[in-house]
Formats: sequence, C-alpha cells, structure tokens
Amino acid sequence: MTPDHVDISALKNHEGQSVTLRGWLYNKRSSKGLHFLVMRDGTGLSQCVVNQGEVDESSWQAAESATQESSIELKGLVRADEKQVGGYEVQVTEMNLIHQAEEYPITPKEHGVDFLMNHRHLWLRSRRQWAILRIRNSVIMSIHNFFQERGFLQMDAPILTGTAVEGTSTLFEMEYFGRSAYLTQSGQLHGEAMAMAFGKIYTFGPTFRAEKSKTRRHLTEFWMIEPEMAFYDLEMTMQLAEEMLSRIVSDALANCQAELEVLDRDLEPLKRSLSDYPRVSYDEAVEILHSEKTRKMVEDKIESLKSEATALTTESAEGKATYGQAKKWQKRKIDVREGEIQRRQSEIEEELRNLPKWLKSAQEFEWGNDFGGSDETLITWHYDRPIIVHRFPHGFKAFYMKRDPEDDRLALGMDVLAPEGYGEIVGGGERADDLGFLQDQVKKHGLPEEAFKWYFDLRRYGSVQHAGYGLGLERTVTWICGIHHLRETIPFARTLDRLYP
Ligand code: 4AD
Ligand code: MG
Repeated sequence: MTPDHVDISALKNHEGQSVTLRGWLYNKRSSKGLHFLVMRDGTGLSQCVVNQGEVDESSWQAAESATQESSIELKGLVRADEKQVGGYEVQVTEMNLIHQAEEYPITPKEHGVDFLMNHRHLWLRSRRQWAILRIRNSVIMSIHNFFQERGFLQMDAPILTGTAVEGTSTLFEMEYFGRSAYLTQSGQLHGEAMAMAFGKIYTFGPTFRAEKSKTRRHLTEFWMIEPEMAFYDLEMTMQLAEEMLSRIVSDALANCQAELEVLDRDLEPLKRSLSDYPRVSYDEAVEILHSEKTRKMVEDKIESLKSEATALTTESAEGKATYGQAKKWQKRKIDVREGEIQRRQSEIEEELRNLPKWLKSAQEFEWGNDFGGSDETLITWHYDRPIIVHRFPHGFKAFYMKRDPEDDRLALGMDVLAPEGYGEIVGGGERADDLGFLQDQVKKHGLPEEAFKWYFDLRRYGSVQHAGYGLGLERTVTWICGIHHLRETIPFARTLDRLYP
C-alpha cells in the first residue's frame, strides 16, 4: 500500500495540489479566526494555515485544541512561499487531531543541557537535533559509498570478545558463562583476519570504552568505522583517510545545506577540508607546541574571548532593560537570545580557565609523551584544514604497531586531527607483521598471550604488510556540524553518568 500522505520534504512536487500531511504540531501562533500551525513530520517543517472561515467546525476545533507536539493529520492546498520555513505553505481545508499531547516539557524557552539530556527521547524532535542527526546519516552513507565504490567489503567484527585491543584500562568486563569477556574496544584485530581473507574490508559497528573522564570528546559507547587493507603501507593509509574524509565533507556540503544552516555552521573551514591535508610528523608537532607562535596564539585567544564576553554582557543588559516594554513575541526572542548568551558565556568562562593551563602543558611537553586533548587543539590552530600526524614514539602506542624501519624509537602510526580545535577523529597505522616481534610486544604490554593465539596465526600463514585505521563517527559528526559537544551526535549518548533514556 502506498501511503496516502506526502512528506513535508516533498511539498515542492505538489505545488498547487491538495495533499494530506501527517505529523506533529511544532509551534502554533494564533489570531482571531486564524491558526498558524508549524507542523513537523521528521522530513521537515511546514507552516499550515487554518482559517476559521474555510474549514468545518470539527477541523477548527482540532486546530483550537492542538497543543505543542500533538499528533495531527491535515489536508490542504500547497503554495510556494519563499518567506516560510521550507519555502511552502499549506492552506488547510480539513484537520484532524490524532492525539492531544499533554503539556510538553520542552518549551521554546532555553533549557539546561542536563534537563534536555534527561528528556533526550523528546529532545530528538527539536530542529537542532533534526539537523545534527540527519548529518550523521549523511556521514554514514558517505562512508559506505566511499568504501563500496573502492571494492572494500563491509564485515562485522564481534562485539563480545576475549581480547583487549586498546589497553586494559578502559575495558568493560562482563561475566560470560563462567569466564570473563569484554565489550569490544575496536574491531581491528578481527578486521586484520578478515583483510587477510578478503583483501580490503571495513567494519562499521559499536565500540565500547569505560572512559572515566567527562569530556566533550568521549562516550562510553560510540561507533567506529575501521578499514583494514592487505598490502597497504602507512603512506597509502594516510591517503585513504584523506580521501574518505574529503568525501564525507563534500557530500555533507552538497546534501545537507539546510541542516548546516540550522546549525549556523561556518562553511569555509569545511570547504577548505576537501584536499591537501598536511602531513605533520610527531617531532614537528612537538616543535609546534614549544613554539613562540603557539604562545602568541593562546594570548591572542584569551584577549578576544575577554572582549567577546564583555560584548555579550552588554547585549544581555540591553535585553533586560527593554524587557518590560517588549511585546510578547519580542520577550520570547529576548529569552531565547538570553539563553544563547548564557550558554556562550559559560563556554567562554571554561575556555578562559583552561587556556593558561593548556599553554603551560604545551610549553612543558616532553618528547615521548602522548598528546593530550589540549595539545591537539593547539596544534590544529596552526592549520586551516585536517592534518595527519604520523610516526609517534612507540612507548604510548598499542602493542600491534609496526616500528619505523628508519628510526626504531618510532611506531608507524597516524592520527587525523580535525581543524578548529576538534582534534583526533582517526587513529591507525601499519601493523606489526613479524610473529616474533608481535609475541614480544604482547608480553611487554602485559597482555595474556593465550588470548592472542589466534591473532598470531595471521603472522604464521602468509603474513603481509598491512594497515588500517579507525574513524570515530561521533567525533567526525561533531566536527562537520561545528558543535561543541559530541553527546548530541548520537541518538542516545552513553557516558560516565548517563544510562537513561
Ligand atoms: O585511536 P583509537 O583508540 O584507535 C583504535 O581503536 C584502533 N584500533 C583503530 C584501528 O586502527 N582500526 O580510536 C579510533 C578513533 C579515535 O580517533 C576517535 O575518533 C574514536 O575512535 N574514539 C572515540 N570516540 C568517542 N568516544 C571515545 N571514548 C572514543 N575513543 C576513541
Ligand atoms: Mg587514538
């Protein structure tokens, strides 16, 4: 059966026609004999006008009693109207209230993030979430298309495993019929087995890390895409990561214009991220942290944040001064803006607290350490597009990394750091392919050899040079959206303190 209603996103194909829409009431403005209903159906928003003189009594009553988020069905004539959301307006001829919503907890006024996260099951209906999660969908489709067009097979790694991949400190352990099992931290080891069987593969699945810190970059459950390729070296792998990210960005720019606009995303940094990602060695990155230029950048940033904060304080005071005389709609506008101002103010306060610490730790950074989130942020400030940092000291890298034949202190790893302070979105590199070396590393990392017996087999039967990486989906979507925190890029975020909804 084909549905007898149309999607709001398809109104453009029905100009001048009578259509049926089904969805929810997003917003309502009323004046005498008129209701302006903004309706949403998941595909978009549309203004629907109910004129008392043009509908029967039961339709009018439906419009009268429809509350925010009530489910509704209506019929009406589609006309183009550039000024309206979505570019079309529906002149309603019939309306039916499917379910009258109770008083909706999320109102147009500003709510705190905790409140919104507690109501995530409802918050998903808002316009901002609509934009972010549709961009997530675009990123997912780009990734599949990119790899499929290049002959990669999508293969699934197990979620329940007996082996740690990325160190033992973030393992979720569980009881598995009398023995220990873990939720997978990465599909890589199984990906390597699949690459030896199928050449080029990618996994696309949930991964888990018991992250005990609350940051804007960490979830305990996140989605990772992990290509693994036989006969690939580090350079080929960096190239692949660049081309994949470039594809994600160009698809988002082409297909998500409306969504990026809702988020007020500055498109210039995305447009610059279509090619030519600089390759930066670890050594060069350390020099950047120690540089005079970094110190100057931090100081300038502190100055500009301070003047931004002053301007916001002034704006907020002006809003308060005019509030008393303002009309109802103006008050609402002031309320919304005040919320934005407060949110930005607290971001600025946080940054002003952090920046001096960041600078200090950058200046004192010692060769051989891993970059922290703040180091990554400062490094990316020096570039206007993603960069690929490569060849790290092996000390802080995973047991499976291959050594650089040119410099035994280094591992052939690489990280892609997104610009604008977003930091690491991809981590990977070349894998150790020598059995003896790998066995040795497992021991040195204090891992149980027994659990890796099957993995060692890959180095026993036709071992070849191979490489791969993992792309963090939520971090990538956070960057594409240009938003502050990754918790909004997954429908239901799991973090240290959140298991509901
Ligand atoms: O750098 P990571 O730890 O690399 C691996 O797991 C490799 N085994 C991947 C491989 O080579 N096949 O993680 C890869 C990416 C990170 O760059 C980051 O984008 C994301 O996964 N990531 C997280 N995203 C959200 N929350 C977390 N707690 C994350 N930990 C890693
Ligand atoms: Mg990493």
